[in-house]
Amino acid sequence: MNTHSPTLPGLSAEELSRVAGPLKDAWTLPPTAYTDSDLYDLEVERIMRKSWLPVGRAEQVPNPGDYICFTLYDQPLMLVRGTDGAVRVMSRVCLHRAAPIAEGTGNRKLFSCPYHAWSYATDGQLVRAPLMEGAEGFEEKNCKLPNLRSEIWDGFVMVNCDDDAEPFAPQVTTYQKTFSNYKLDDMVIIKTLEFDSPWN
Ligand code: FES
Repeated sequence: MNTHSPTLPGLSAEELSRVAGPLKDAWTLPPTAYTDSDLYDLEVERIMRKSWLPVGRAEQVPNPGDYICFTLYDQPLMLVRGTDGAVRVMSRVCLHRAAPIAEGTGNRKLFSCPYHAWSYATDGQLVRAPLMEGAEGFEEKNCKLPNLRSEIWDGFVMVNCDDDAEPFAPQVTTYQKTFSNYKLDDMVIIKTLEFDSPWN
Protein backbone atom coordinates (compact mmCIF):
# COMPACT_ATOMS: atom_id res chain seq x y z
CA MET A 1 0.00 0.00 0.00
CA ASN A 2 1.26 3.45 -0.85
CA THR A 3 1.33 5.51 2.35
CA HIS A 4 3.00 8.50 0.70
CA SER A 5 0.79 11.60 1.02
CA PRO A 6 0.64 13.78 -2.08
CA THR A 7 1.71 17.37 -1.57
CA LEU A 8 1.16 20.54 -3.52
CA PRO A 9 2.65 23.97 -2.91
CA GLY A 10 0.42 26.16 -0.77
CA LEU A 11 -1.79 23.27 0.42
CA SER A 12 -1.28 21.15 3.50
CA ALA A 13 -1.65 17.37 3.32
CA GLU A 14 -4.78 17.69 5.45
CA GLU A 15 -6.34 20.24 3.10
CA LEU A 16 -5.51 18.04 0.13
CA SER A 17 -7.04 14.94 1.64
CA ARG A 18 -10.24 16.86 2.50
CA VAL A 19 -10.53 18.10 -1.07
CA ALA A 20 -9.89 14.64 -2.49
CA GLY A 21 -12.42 12.91 -0.24
CA PRO A 22 -15.69 11.30 -1.39
CA LEU A 23 -18.04 13.89 -2.86
CA LYS A 24 -20.56 13.65 -0.04
CA ASP A 25 -18.07 14.98 2.51
CA ALA A 26 -15.36 16.58 0.36
CA TRP A 27 -14.38 20.23 0.83
CA THR A 28 -13.82 22.93 -1.73
CA LEU A 29 -10.29 24.14 -2.38
CA PRO A 30 -8.94 26.46 0.32
CA PRO A 31 -8.40 30.15 -0.61
CA THR A 32 -4.63 29.75 -1.00
CA ALA A 33 -5.26 27.49 -4.02
CA TYR A 34 -6.39 30.61 -5.85
CA THR A 35 -3.51 32.84 -4.80
CA ASP A 36 -0.37 30.73 -4.28
CA SER A 37 2.13 31.57 -7.03
CA ASP A 38 4.00 28.25 -6.75
CA LEU A 39 0.75 26.36 -7.21
CA TYR A 40 -0.03 28.53 -10.23
CA ASP A 41 3.35 27.66 -11.75
CA LEU A 42 2.58 23.99 -11.24
CA GLU A 43 -0.84 24.36 -12.85
CA VAL A 44 0.75 26.05 -15.84
CA GLU A 45 3.38 23.32 -16.19
CA ARG A 46 1.15 20.30 -15.65
CA ILE A 47 -2.22 21.43 -16.99
CA MET A 48 -2.34 24.67 -18.92
CA ARG A 49 0.69 24.18 -21.14
CA LYS A 50 -0.77 20.82 -22.16
CA SER A 51 -4.28 22.12 -22.79
CA TRP A 52 -5.90 23.76 -25.80
CA LEU A 53 -6.61 27.41 -25.30
CA PRO A 54 -8.41 29.92 -27.55
CA VAL A 55 -6.16 32.93 -28.16
CA GLY A 56 -8.14 34.78 -30.79
CA ARG A 57 -10.46 34.59 -33.77
CA ALA A 58 -9.27 33.94 -37.30
CA GLU A 59 -11.36 36.91 -38.46
CA GLN A 60 -9.08 39.21 -36.43
CA VAL A 61 -6.34 38.59 -39.02
CA PRO A 62 -8.32 38.61 -42.30
CA ASN A 63 -5.54 39.64 -44.68
CA PRO A 64 -2.14 38.10 -45.46
CA GLY A 65 0.39 39.74 -43.16
CA ASP A 66 -2.14 40.76 -40.47
CA TYR A 67 -0.84 40.09 -36.96
CA ILE A 68 -1.83 40.48 -33.33
CA CYS A 69 0.74 40.28 -30.52
CA PHE A 70 -0.01 38.79 -27.16
CA THR A 71 1.71 37.07 -24.25
CA LEU A 72 0.92 33.58 -23.05
CA TYR A 73 2.58 32.08 -19.95
CA ASP A 74 5.20 34.88 -20.16
CA GLN A 75 6.02 33.97 -23.78
CA PRO A 76 5.76 36.85 -26.28
CA LEU A 77 3.71 35.41 -29.15
CA MET A 78 1.81 36.62 -32.19
CA LEU A 79 -1.13 35.42 -34.21
CA VAL A 80 -0.29 35.89 -37.89
CA ARG A 81 -2.09 35.36 -41.20
CA GLY A 82 0.70 34.23 -43.49
CA THR A 83 1.17 35.33 -47.07
CA ASP A 84 0.09 31.76 -47.88
CA GLY A 85 -3.26 32.40 -46.13
CA ALA A 86 -2.56 30.09 -43.17
CA VAL A 87 -3.12 31.33 -39.61
CA ARG A 88 -0.23 30.59 -37.26
CA VAL A 89 0.76 31.29 -33.67
CA MET A 90 4.48 31.84 -33.27
CA SER A 91 7.17 33.36 -31.12
CA ARG A 92 7.97 37.03 -31.70
CA VAL A 93 11.36 36.84 -30.03
CA CYS A 94 14.28 37.36 -32.40
CA LEU A 95 16.53 34.34 -32.73
CA HIS A 96 19.61 36.56 -32.73
CA ARG A 97 19.61 38.40 -29.39
CA ALA A 98 16.01 37.90 -28.25
CA ALA A 99 14.64 41.35 -29.09
CA PRO A 100 10.89 41.54 -29.75
CA ILE A 101 10.28 41.68 -33.50
CA ALA A 102 6.69 42.94 -33.25
CA GLU A 103 4.36 44.74 -30.84
CA GLY A 104 0.65 45.53 -30.95
CA THR A 105 -1.20 44.84 -34.18
CA GLY A 106 -0.63 45.59 -37.84
CA ASN A 107 0.18 44.16 -41.23
CA ARG A 108 3.62 43.14 -42.49
CA LYS A 109 5.01 40.98 -45.21
CA LEU A 110 8.28 40.69 -43.26
CA PHE A 111 9.02 41.01 -39.57
CA SER A 112 12.30 42.90 -39.28
CA CYS A 113 14.02 43.03 -35.93
CA PRO A 114 14.71 46.63 -34.83
CA TYR A 115 18.14 45.69 -33.45
CA HIS A 116 20.21 44.17 -36.26
CA ALA A 117 17.56 43.80 -38.97
CA TRP A 118 17.17 40.07 -39.08
CA SER A 119 13.97 39.59 -41.07
CA TYR A 120 11.42 36.81 -40.84
CA ALA A 121 8.68 35.76 -43.25
CA THR A 122 5.10 35.45 -42.05
CA ASP A 123 5.61 31.75 -41.33
CA GLY A 124 8.57 32.54 -39.07
CA GLN A 125 11.30 31.57 -41.52
CA LEU A 126 14.41 33.73 -41.30
CA VAL A 127 14.99 35.23 -44.75
CA ARG A 128 17.62 37.90 -44.12
CA ALA A 129 20.40 38.18 -41.55
CA PRO A 130 22.66 41.13 -42.39
CA LEU A 131 26.27 40.93 -41.26
CA MET A 132 26.06 37.15 -40.99
CA GLU A 133 27.40 36.56 -44.48
CA GLY A 134 30.40 34.29 -44.25
CA ALA A 135 29.64 33.17 -40.69
CA GLU A 136 30.77 29.57 -40.62
CA GLY A 137 27.98 27.03 -40.12
CA PHE A 138 25.26 29.69 -40.25
CA GLU A 139 22.46 29.32 -42.76
CA GLU A 140 19.28 31.37 -42.72
CA LYS A 141 17.24 28.40 -43.91
CA ASN A 142 18.03 26.61 -40.63
CA CYS A 143 16.50 29.38 -38.51
CA LYS A 144 12.77 29.68 -37.96
CA LEU A 145 10.71 31.24 -35.18
CA PRO A 146 9.07 28.48 -33.12
CA ASN A 147 5.46 27.88 -34.14
CA LEU A 148 3.00 26.58 -31.55
CA ARG A 149 0.55 23.80 -32.27
CA SER A 150 -2.61 25.51 -33.44
CA GLU A 151 -5.98 24.69 -34.92
CA ILE A 152 -8.94 26.75 -36.02
CA TRP A 153 -12.19 25.49 -34.55
CA ASP A 154 -15.40 27.35 -35.48
CA GLY A 155 -13.33 30.47 -36.03
CA PHE A 156 -11.44 30.25 -32.74
CA VAL A 157 -7.67 30.00 -32.98
CA MET A 158 -6.74 27.28 -30.51
CA VAL A 159 -3.15 26.76 -29.34
CA ASN A 160 -1.39 24.11 -27.32
CA CYS A 161 2.20 24.36 -26.04
CA ASP A 162 2.47 20.58 -26.10
CA ASP A 163 3.61 19.27 -29.48
CA ASP A 164 2.30 15.82 -28.55
CA ALA A 165 -1.20 16.97 -27.60
CA GLU A 166 -4.11 15.15 -29.18
CA PRO A 167 -5.85 17.22 -31.87
CA PHE A 168 -8.51 19.54 -30.44
CA ALA A 169 -11.48 19.11 -32.81
CA PRO A 170 -12.11 15.38 -32.23
CA GLN A 171 -12.30 16.06 -28.46
CA VAL A 172 -15.24 18.43 -28.80
CA THR A 173 -17.52 16.77 -31.32
CA THR A 174 -20.31 16.82 -28.71
CA TYR A 175 -20.07 20.60 -28.41
CA GLN A 176 -19.91 20.92 -32.18
CA LYS A 177 -23.39 19.41 -32.42
CA THR A 178 -24.71 21.56 -29.56
CA PHE A 179 -23.40 24.81 -30.99
CA SER A 180 -23.93 24.21 -34.70
CA ASN A 181 -27.12 26.32 -34.73
CA TYR A 182 -25.19 29.30 -33.40
CA LYS A 183 -22.93 29.35 -36.46
CA LEU A 184 -19.92 30.31 -34.37
CA ASP A 185 -17.76 30.22 -37.47
CA ASP A 186 -19.63 33.22 -38.90
CA MET A 187 -19.49 35.35 -35.76
CA VAL A 188 -17.31 38.44 -35.53
CA ILE A 189 -15.97 40.36 -32.56
CA ILE A 190 -17.87 43.57 -31.87
CA LYS A 191 -16.50 44.37 -28.42
CA THR A 192 -13.57 43.28 -26.29
CA LEU A 193 -13.55 43.32 -22.50
CA GLU A 194 -10.36 43.20 -20.45
CA PHE A 195 -10.06 42.01 -16.89
CA ASP A 196 -7.28 42.24 -14.37
CA SER A 197 -7.11 38.72 -12.97
CA PRO A 198 -4.56 38.60 -10.16
CA TRP A 199 -5.45 35.04 -9.16
CA ASN A 200 -4.58 31.52 -10.26
S1 FES B 1 18.38 40.96 -31.80
FE1 FES B 1 17.22 40.77 -33.59
S2 FES B 1 18.62 41.07 -35.18
FE2 FES B 1 19.81 41.18 -33.41
